[in-house]
Amino acid sequence: MSPAAVYVVDDDPLVTDSLSRALELETEWRVLAFNQGALALAAMPDVPPDVVLSDFKMPGMDGIAFLARVRAAHPDAVLLLLTGYADKESAIRAINEVGIWQYVEKPWDLGDLLVKIRQGLERRALVVELRASNAELVSRLDELERAHVELVRAERLAAVGRVASGLAHEIGNQLALVGYAEAIRDRTREPEVAEFAEVIVAAQRRLAALVEEIKDFARGAAAHYPREPGDLAAAVEEALGILRFDAEVKTRRVSLEVRSRPLALLHRGKIEQVVVNLVHNAVQASAPGGEVRVIVDEDADGPLVSVRDHGPGMPPEVLARLGEPFFTTKERGSGLGIGISRRVIDEHQGRLEVRSRPGEGTEVIIRLPPLHVGTVGI
Ligand SMILES: Nc1ncnc2c1ncn2[C@@H]1O[C@H](COP(=O)(O)OP(=O)(O)OP(=O)(O)O)[C@@H](O)[C@H]1O
Ligand SMILES: [Mg+2]
Repeated sequence: MSPAAVYVVDDDPLVTDSLSRALELETEWRVLAFNQGALALAAMPDVPPDVVLSDFKMPGMDGIAFLARVRAAHPDAVLLLLTGYADKESAIRAINEVGIWQYVEKPWDLGDLLVKIRQGLERRALVVELRASNAELVSRLDELERAHVELVRAERLAAVGRVASGLAHEIGNQLALVGYAEAIRDRTREPEVAEFAEVIVAAQRRLAALVEEIKDFARGAAAHYPREPGDLAAAVEEALGILRFDAEVKTRRVSLEVRSRPLALLHRGKIEQVVVNLVHNAVQASAPGGEVRVIVDEDADGPLVSVRDHGPGMPPEVLARLGEPFFTTKERGSGLGIGISRRVIDEHQGRLEVRSRPGEGTEVIIRLPPLHVGTVGI
């Protein structure tokens, strides 16, 4: 460690001379003597002060103003004020105002002065050490907190992944059975039976797609599937057609209003799946006889589908967790609908807007990017 830099500042050269000579003789410190505060301040950038011993009464900048400036630039420096007996009161005030370690009365006692400086240096070393270990502690704590958050997240995702792939596997197995529906559809002579069988076949296709979706979800990989310019309203009409036979849908008034027929770059099956999910939620939130309104339109931001219900709406704590895998408030919900939908819309470079307030119903809007005619060759 380099020797402590001790500044001695007094307008009287006799004082600086005798003090610096005494300190050099008694200690290993590096002593720098100045007869003006300004000169001492000018030297400090090159030799940062460990200790500053300053006279109180000096022409120009007085000792307190000088030490205040030292304090501002070197918060850890040990400051001592040299005063005559008459200035004791001002010196005591400065101790609090500027943060001066001690005042030393003139004429000083060298032994006493040395003890005061040494104690100041010791205290300073302690403060510096404490500050360092405190900073260390705070950063450890931050680290620990981050690790904890990460762990909880990873744990939850891992659990979600395990459950989801288990589920997907099991459903996938059972789906093979639905192949019988195809056989029935193809062999029956009764149109009504064929129609019912077709409903089962269509449901099987959607389920198979959903199983793939869940597997993707569990893997956490963004799915890449082809998208092509398509009629958004047609996809919505198809989705509502699928829902026609749903028991809950049948008991609510689900209406579709096609205000415009925008083209959008889309994977039709996926978009249909999203509409099905959103209409399902809207229907499940509505009382029997309740109204669910689906609108296809286009505004300045591009094509959109709005699904609006007059159900109970969502409190902030539900809104905050919306889309979290397996988050559901329903007895028989799987809590995947919104999460999957959001992901599909993300993959379409669109976004899902949710407007919901308790008591005011819910509107979920699918927004897809506008399709720039010309860039896709139509
Ligand atoms: N239109 C809505 N009105 C009120 N609450 C809703 C609405 N849509 C979603 N929610 C709330 O968000 C939760 C999550 O919805 P999400 O569709 O992701 O899962 P789910 O409907 O519970 O189950 P599922 O996987 O069968 O869709 C719901 O349980 C419900 O609390
Ligand atoms: Mg749902």
